[in-house]
Amino acid sequence: MKLGPYTLPNNLFVAPMAGVTDRPFRQLCKRLGAGYAVSEMIASNAMLWNSAKTLRRANHDGEVEPISVQIAGADPQMMAEAALLNIERGAQIIDINMGCPAKKVCNVASGSALLKDEPLVGKILETIVTSVNKDHPLVPVTLKIRTGWDREHKNAINIAKIAVNSGIEMLTIHGRTKADLYRGEAEYETIAAVKAAINIPVVANGDINSPIKAAQVLKETGADALMIGRAAQGRPWIFREILHYLKTGQLLQAPKVAEIQEIMNHHLLDHYEFYGEYAGVRTARKHIGWYCKGLKGSHVFRQHLNTIEDCQKQLEAVNHFFDSLKQDSEHLIYLEAA
Ligand SMILES: Cc1cc2nc3c(=O)[nH]c(=O)nc-3n(C[C@H](O)[C@H](O)[C@H](O)COP(=O)(O)O)c2cc1C
Repeated sequence: MKLGPYTLPNNLFVAPMAGVTDRPFRQLCKRLGAGYAVSEMIASNAMLWNSAKTLRRANHDGEVEPISVQIAGADPQMMAEAALLNIERGAQIIDINMGCPAKKVCNVASGSALLKDEPLVGKILETIVTSVNKDHPLVPVTLKIRTGWDREHKNAINIAKIAVNSGIEMLTIHGRTKADLYRGEAEYETIAAVKAAINIPVVANGDINSPIKAAQVLKETGADALMIGRAAQGRPWIFREILHYLKTGQLLQAPKVAEIQEIMNHHLLDHYEFYGEYAGVRTARKHIGWYCKGLKGSHVFRQHLNTIEDCQKQLEAVNHFFDSLKQDSEHLIYLEAA
């Protein structure tokens, strides 16, 4: 699959998830088969550009290319400036967030709240694409949306046409409306209708959590690529499982505990290095929680984990927990749906 000057190794993408899809996690997903990753969103408010959080989010050292940065906001000019700043900081692709329903984003009518205002969407997209094209004609600008504002106002096709006319080069659609938040199930009919209506690559997103579901969504939507978010949390090997299934029609064997432990150790060490001791130990807890979800003894282990405030001790505790699982079986045995 091609995106501007870049040829992506495959069409499985890891979704931008604020607080999750940081550089260590993006790298890990790419190592385990993801063909492309979009970073967590960066606010377009210039007052935040030099905050520790934004600077960390803009750190792409050693990242496998192409580097894609997502920006969020509501003011066309501010967003264009944010796009240019991020290109200076290493972004090779700019993604615009009109898909996030989070209050913090929507209160200022950004994220998916923008879908309600089609003229403003057009203004934002045109302003950003024009500014980026002027100085950086090789940097593609892409867009991520939901199917609409609410179920009575599914305007994804209108938005998609506005996007194409504004010079957007790829469109990702999460199969829910803004009002749905994360409730109910994602639907793929609207994604299929958008795919049929426009001639730029379309990426289908929402509730893709297994190789079989991935194949089904590809078939139902005719999409050019799939984006996976929550199902990759604690299970970043899902990309190679899906890839294998799409290529061969066969399900790959689940990884053994020993390999999962190796993946986790690699992830945590990279995570600690990226965040440093204080933030590292705290922000790693959620990833460890996802790796352990549904496993025997995980509830008690997670409570214990919250009392540890030292990266080395946290890593030892994780290895101790997984060593004890290995004594029961070389494969993970889930007590509840993971
Ligand atoms: C914790 C979390 C953070 C998210 N942050 C962003 C974000 O920064 N930008 C964005 O476009 N979407 C964001 N999303 C939405 C995801 O990219 C994706 O569209 C959504 O989770 C549906 O895909 P999934 O069912 O595969 O998780 C976030 C989702 C989650 C769960």
